[in-house]
Amino acid sequence: MDTIIKKLDDIGIDHIDETFMEIGEVLKNGGLVAFPTETVYGLGANALDENAAKKIYEAKGRPSDNPLIIHISNIKDLEVVASDITDTAQKLAEVFWPGPLTMVLNKTPLVPYATSGGLETVAVRFPSNEPARRIITAAGGFVAAPSANSSGKPSPTTAGHVINDLMGKIDMIVDGGPCDIGLESTIVDLTTEVPTILRPGSITKNMLEEVIGRVEKASDEVSDTQSPKAPGMKYRHYAPKAELSIFVGRTKNVADRINIMARECLENSKLVGIICSNETKELYENGIVQEIGSLSDSNDIAAHLYDILRDFDARGVDYIFSESFFVGELGDAIMNRLEKAAGGKIFICSANIDYDNIETVIFVDNDDVSLSVMAKEIALKKRTKENLNILSRGLNVLFSEPANQKTQIVLENHKLDGKNHLARRLKQIDFSEKTAIVALNIAVKDKIMDRFENTEQLYTISEFFDERVVLEDPFGKDIEEYEKCYIILDTILTKAQVLIL
Ligand code: TXA
Ligand code: MG
Repeated sequence: MDTIIKKLDDIGIDHIDETFMEIGEVLKNGGLVAFPTETVYGLGANALDENAAKKIYEAKGRPSDNPLIIHISNIKDLEVVASDITDTAQKLAEVFWPGPLTMVLNKTPLVPYATSGGLETVAVRFPSNEPARRIITAAGGFVAAPSANSSGKPSPTTAGHVINDLMGKIDMIVDGGPCDIGLESTIVDLTTEVPTILRPGSITKNMLEEVIGRVEKASDEVSDTQSPKAPGMKYRHYAPKAELSIFVGRTKNVADRINIMARECLENSKLVGIICSNETKELYENGIVQEIGSLSDSNDIAAHLYDILRDFDARGVDYIFSESFFVGELGDAIMNRLEKAAGGKIFICSANIDYDNIETVIFVDNDDVSLSVMAKEIALKKRTKENLNILSRGLNVLFSEPANQKTQIVLENHKLDGKNHLARRLKQIDFSEKTAIVALNIAVKDKIMDRFENTEQLYTISEFFDERVVLEDPFGKDIEEYEKCYIILDTILTKAQVLIL
């Protein structure tokens, strides 16, 4: 098949309307057109035409029970393809559409099973990208589009990526330049009792919760027998040809470890690719070093991830070593994709802490009424070094209040003291060579770095305990969330070297 390439930049203003009409005609006639969106390039077909939708699976080499997202260009069109549209869905549409949010709802009979992958539900998205909207409108309003990569490759973020994967297999590729976001949309399932995030993206959990209250994240664990919530989750995710590993820890420890491993690879005549930030590039000595973006701009990092992975594949590197990027609004989505690509190969880089030198450990969170209190009480129980001081502090403590109710209940359920705590604010005098300041999460650590001096002994809980820990502030959530945090803290602190002789 001849694939026509339409580069939008090359089409003069006089011809642009007619170009979109022409693209729409291809789709209306059952053809396949790859087009840009603000997230990644999509491979479009008329969503209401069963045969057209089927062609998508063939072109991508994608299993036919992995459902497609229907793209619309008008909020009102949601009711054509989705039924039982709740207030929650309505609110989300009003706030986040057009934009990178996909909602899963019950489907109407109009949606063929070829589009919904055999499900009774349907995923719908209204993209903000202008050419995408014009194409959808010209095609009649309903375009099914997965990412326009061949199955097993990263999603395409430029027309060049699409050309590499699908040239000769589809009718047309619309080149609208690189995608703004570079990671696929957030998918939220609204058919569950509590809305559930099936895939994190640039619309974050916090952003959703501000509009509709409690939202959950789907667990990644998928068994072979159970049908997974996001059918896409059961398929092998993109893994580069090279073996990809992610390194977590203090910048310098990460770089040291990567340098050692890269040197070893080179001595064995292996090609190594390194993914680092603009700020840390100078730390690397060997290998093909690719800057993914600035740590102060998670949008920048997200926009380059897939391009770098594709580039390393093209160069045929044997190993890819990547820093981790739990930064900014998009940190969650970036690490979700990177971890899937790494198939779980994560190295925690030890901070080489001299535990014998430490006389005080201070756990710090925002308000010192929940997580830091749990950490303190658990550490006090586990401690066998009697002269080790264990304290907790908060960044924004206005008055010394007790631990919040749910924290007290959880501590008491575990036979720990939940009653006698009083919140206190972290101060500059708390910092010393012999005091480890342990932030309960990376956002707290960043704030401490901004506000205080002498932060040589400042760690996140993951760095200090050499364990990968993701603790979300349970504030405002059910007691079960508090209990989950307790269990995580209890597990790490059981193995904590600093606490025992
Ligand atoms: O940003 C995006 O969402 C891009 C652009 C092109 O819009 N599209 C995209 O589509 O990433 P795709 O097919 O590569 O990923 C869609 C995911 C799949 O994992 C699929 O299983 C899931 O959405 N999905 C689709 N319909 C679903 C449904 N009814 N229930 C649960 N998951 C669904
Ligand atoms: Mg995809």
